Amino acid sequence: MKALVLSGGSGTRLRPLSHTMPKQLVPIANKPVLAYGLEAIAGAGITEVGIVVGDRIDDIREAVGDGSRYGLRVTYLEQAAPLGLAHAVVIAREFLGDDDFLMYLGDNVVLDGIDELVARFRADPCDAQVTVHPADPREGGLAVLDADGRVTAVEEKPKNPVGNLALMGIYVFTPLVHQAVRAIRPSARGELEITDAIGWLIEQGHHVRGHHYRGFWRDAGLIDSLLECNQAVLDHVGPRILGKVDDETEVIGRVFVDERATVTRSRLVGPLVIGPEAIVDGSYVGPYTSVGEQCVIEDSSVEFSIVMDRALIREVRGVHGSLIGRATSVRAAAEPARGGHRLVLGENSQVLMA
Ligand code: G1P
Repeated sequence: MKALVLSGGSGTRLRPLSHTMPKQLVPIANKPVLAYGLEAIAGAGITEVGIVVGDRIDDIREAVGDGSRYGLRVTYLEQAAPLGLAHAVVIAREFLGDDDFLMYLGDNVVLDGIDELVARFRADPCDAQVTVHPADPREGGLAVLDADGRVTAVEEKPKNPVGNLALMGIYVFTPLVHQAVRAIRPSARGELEITDAIGWLIEQGHHVRGHHYRGFWRDAGLIDSLLECNQAVLDHVGPRILGKVDDETEVIGRVFVDERATVTRSRLVGPLVIGPEAIVDGSYVGPYTSVGEQCVIEDSSVEFSIVMDRALIREVRGVHGSLIGRATSVRAAAEPARGGHRLVLGENSQVLMA
């Protein structure tokens, strides 16, 4: 079985981060979203992976390379325009050949593996298998299952969902799906929807099975889900102090400090991670915080946040539940501001003042 990982898409719900970084590369506990999917795929024993990429191909290629670090062989498949998830299957036709394949949406984060769903399909094949999880289906797709676990209906972005099972972005398809993606027409948003292809298979009387995923799952294409993923991963972080942490620093709970990081005169309350070459001085870094590579945090307090590579936080208290983009700075004004806060924010930025 091959895997097809979809890593295009513009990530409109993750703006402004997605203006400069593909959503699949946003870090969760200092590791890109996409890495969680690739590790799950490798864990299920699949090695041949096609990654469908759009205009962010260079970023994705730089992060993933040939896949060998995950134990995978990766082929990049270029989708000239974001014409939908089912369109990605169309352009991957040659790569997929006549094999069954796992389709994995690169912004989906699972933390409990996908071995079970792959093993189930292998042991008891059906025409297509979708993965479902109890969640609000309005943000994605809805699946309706009968008592035997057979999918009887699917609907993309339902306004009034007739159930509470969301379609996860993890599917197993047989070559039948190639007929389906050719039979459907673009949706109102102009895309070939994979949900419509699944609907077509159901209408044609094929057996589409719903597999209940019992572990942790989020679609990390949304801001709140990113923070939730970060929390869930940090809950299991292996506490290790590899870098320099001075005597004046207090360390409580699960704290990982990379070997090239430096922490002085601070209070670290885990779970948290501090990345390579980061500098933390005179600060409180609180629970569920990831501090990226080469960040500087001075005389500040930060908690429940993702601070990305090369960000600077200086003399600012009370940063909470925040996503601080790469090379961003959040600082106290050098002189008391005359008119109030001074903000230099890119398009689609969000600032919530307390
Ligand atoms: C896509 C699918 C949707 C699925 C979701 C899971 O939606 O179209 O059916 O529930 O992924 O992540 P998107 O997030 O691309 O809008």
